[in-house]
Amino acid sequence: MPTAENFRLEETPIPEPGDGEALVRTLWLSVDPYMRWAIRGDRTNVGEVVTAEVVGEVAATRSPAVAVGQIVVGRIGWQAYGAIAADQLRVIDPTIAPIQTGVGILGMPGLTAYFGLLEVGRPRPGETVLVSGAAGAVGSAVGQIAAIKGCRAVGIAGTEAKCHHLTQDLGFDAAINYRADDLSTALKRACPDGVDVYFDNVGGRILDMVLQHLRMYARVVLCGFISQYNLEEPEVVPRHSVPLALACARMEGFFANDYFDRQDPALRELAGWIDAGRLKYREDIVEGLENAPAAFLGLFTGANVGKALVKVAEPTVAAS
Ligand SMILES: NC(=O)c1ccc[n+]([C@@H]2O[C@H](COP(=O)([O-])OP(=O)(O)OC[C@H]3O[C@@H](n4cnc5c(N)ncnc54)[C@H](OP(=O)(O)O)[C@@H]3O)[C@@H](O)[C@H]2O)c1
Repeated sequence: MPTAENFRLEETPIPEPGDGEALVRTLWLSVDPYMRWAIRGDRTNVGEVVTAEVVGEVAATRSPAVAVGQIVVGRIGWQAYGAIAADQLRVIDPTIAPIQTGVGILGMPGLTAYFGLLEVGRPRPGETVLVSGAAGAVGSAVGQIAAIKGCRAVGIAGTEAKCHHLTQDLGFDAAINYRADDLSTALKRACPDGVDVYFDNVGGRILDMVLQHLRMYARVVLCGFISQYNLEEPEVVPRHSVPLALACARMEGFFANDYFDRQDPALRELAGWIDAGRLKYREDIVEGLENAPAAFLGLFTGANVGKALVKVAEPTVAAS
């Protein structure tokens, strides 16, 4: 488990954009579980900037692809400013939704829920869709999209307050508190006919237990395994082969980026659901770049409800 002492705040000159580059001023910084992988010793050298997508404002440009003042999403990392190839930036329309949704429900986490559930999980109306990490950025969208598609949505989360939020605010049919409830008994109660689609965000013992509750022809979407990210060795080897085989189930990993060439229609559909009040999102905001480590570490203790974000600066142009 990383600690705040593993991070250091440094001041350096603001970079000059090179040919074809834009200088982006960070407004919102996204903290996501994958960053735990990115900062492993074999992937990042000590002293490097932590990778991250940000929502920012174009402060200067040496490319016709973006204009000064435009709101963009780009991989600037944990920095107040960054120079980046302009063709790597996604320009967002600030009139559609608050700009920070560009790294949340209308960005990578929202698209992960959308493609992971619909393309890999392939839920059919009337089926039971179970999702873990259900009160987080990806999980909260998965359950609501399942409900939009006519499924019964069941969530697993780590506190009573999160479970209450799922059933009362987000329209989940049932929620299980994996810290308080006996998981097997709770699964039998919440999914009496078994689980048709399990969208797994956590791995480990929760995955292992859910596999014992699969319905025939179930689909298991391996999205993430946050319970294992801080361990040297995987804690549990899921006893998966027998229950998967007996249920004629399919278990499949996926990488959301592989679907991003189709992001435009997906983002339009997600924005339409938000507009119609069918897809809600919550944000967990801390202020100040210096608080990015605390926001990031909170992902591993379940401190966040909804999308974890760091607010770094206000836009200079009128944007929501
Ligand atoms: N495949 C892909 O392309 C892709 C893309 C994006 C994200 N992901 C994965 O999707 C998952 C969710 O990401 P997110 O951005 O939406 O994060 P998130 O759910 O907003 O935040 C992480 C949540 O995980 C839960 N958690 C932490 N440690 C846990 C543990 N030991 N056991 C069970 N739950 C634990 C916590 O909630 P509780 O209070 O409920 O414990 C915490 O709030 C992650 O595993 C991530 O790596 C995969």
